[in-house]
Amino acid sequence: MRQKVTVVGSGNVGASTALRLADRELADVVMTDILEGIPQGKGLDILEAGPVVGSDSRVLGTNDYKDTANSDIVVVTAGFPRQPGMSRDDLLMKNYDVLKATTEKVVQYSPNCILIIVTNPLDAMCQVALRVSGFPKHRVIGMAGVLDSARFRTFIAQELNVSVENVTAFVLGGHGDEMVPLVRYSQVAGIPLTELLNAETLARIVQRTRKGGGEIVNLLKAGSAFYAPSAAIVEMVEAILKDKKKILPCAAYLEGEYGIQGLYVGVPCKLGARGIEQIMEVKLADDERAALQKSASAVRELVEVIKV
Ligand code: 2OP
Repeated sequence: MRQKVTVVGSGNVGASTALRLADRELADVVMTDILEGIPQGKGLDILEAGPVVGSDSRVLGTNDYKDTANSDIVVVTAGFPRQPGMSRDDLLMKNYDVLKATTEKVVQYSPNCILIIVTNPLDAMCQVALRVSGFPKHRVIGMAGVLDSARFRTFIAQELNVSVENVTAFVLGGHGDEMVPLVRYSQVAGIPLTELLNAETLARIVQRTRKGGGEIVNLLKAGSAFYAPSAAIVEMVEAILKDKKKILPCAAYLEGEYGIQGLYVGVPCKLGARGIEQIMEVKLADDERAALQKSASAVRELVEVIKV
């Protein structure tokens, strides 16, 4: 049976996600937005690429949530993007309203779906979606760690002039400037990163990773990143649709794991058909644990403002 993925939001992140999903024929795709004509136009354009790329994915752009009914996965990208000078957190109140309204509609038509949240500030928006949907925590997942880790891997591969495929890395914590790139668990073809790069270079790469979203915002002047974010979303969607049991860093609702209670924070998760099937707890050194707690505190501050 064909699987169905809805993408909420037809901006750059939403449309790039729909395109990547259709290109790879991973599912039928519905793209929805409150803007009239944009999802329809972009959806039709993506559909018409099908004969060329050899994809029979059905792609539909719509303003009507009825068309999203019975989706297996719903990816929420809707919301206001970051502008230069704006932190992810400045978006909090504006996107809270968007997330609440969106989640209510999604749940009405796809009560059994898995929600992947992309809207910023990411971790707080996941918490809104969890509360509003009433879904079990394993079906509400945030996309951030795959993107942040991809940036970290890119910079490491560039520095060493090696294939990105050789680099495995984890970034934990909230999707903000306090995120925690885990140098100790990062490797190049199995070789620990600390054997290959000196402390000064590593610190520079860690810092660039933390500011990776802002670097793109400053270059674009209007709007934020979308190519790497959409690639990261699709890796998560594929892991779930194909029940791959793939371990990826995702924002997950923690209830005691890593000593964190009742909060979304990025941690390594096993993704499969049920969504988050396991949270992997790795041993952290004291400084890593402290950095994760600091990052979690930044998330908690936001969550307390919106009281979710
Ligand atoms: C990013 O990291 C905007 O959060 C998004 O690019």
